[in-house]
Amino acid sequence: MRLVVRLGGSVVASPINTDLMGEYADLIKTVKAEGHEVAVVVGGGALAREFIKVARDLGLQMEAQDEVAISVSRIFAQLFLKRLGECGCGKVALTLDDAADCLGEGKVVVMGGLKPGITTDAVAALVAERIGADLLVKGSDQEGVYDKDPRKYPDAVKLDRLTFDEFSKIFEGTVHTAGIHQIIDPEAIKVLKRHRVKVIVANGFKPENILSAVKGEKVGTVIS
Ligand code: UTP
Repeated sequence: MRLVVRLGGSVVASPINTDLMGEYADLIKTVKAEGHEVAVVVGGGALAREFIKVARDLGLQMEAQDEVAISVSRIFAQLFLKRLGECGCGKVALTLDDAADCLGEGKVVVMGGLKPGITTDAVAALVAERIGADLLVKGSDQEGVYDKDPRKYPDAVKLDRLTFDEFSKIFEGTVHTAGIHQIIDPEAIKVLKRHRVKVIVANGFKPENILSAVKGEKVGTVIS
């Protein structure tokens, strides 16, 4: 299968967790060795948000804030790519063309941010669209999608399965701001809905959840 793995910066980079990054790299190698084609999109986490704040404090506009966050995510992508070794591409993919070329060479794609005004989730969705992915798995800092924000509401209920439209209803009205944190970006879901790419949002602190998702086992929240 063609698979996009979205590694939340909130998972591997807030604080930076090298053990977890290493575990993910080994896991991606396994998935690749099983014959799957894989693209990994890494976020910038807390460090990206620190730089967004620096840019904001300097009086820079949102676009510049986004640009520094993208640079940070690309450093994490670079580290991840180096740790992957041989099975990864020669360099971090900076464009969707880079991503497609890298996959064409039979290598694992690794990228961070792409352009201002979006999130890394949207990047993962655009990559999924570009390469015709069958599945996008997001390793998030929660167990999946809830009916309301579980960090604010203790009675929030985790949803096992929902349609793209049901998802969009829950997140109606959110707009992009630099550093916005969502379980998965509704803009990404719009792209994925258009191309009917199945999405699984699961707890990224347990890398084995990615394997479960690939095997079709019940994990996290399935959006389809
Ligand atoms: P994300 O919020 O997408 O990454 O990017 P993350 O740290 O992995 O987040 P979680 O784990 O899903 O919460 C951080 C910020 O970088 C900018 C945006 O400001 C975004 O909020 N960004 C990222 C872009 O502007 N363009 C991109 O292509 C990617």
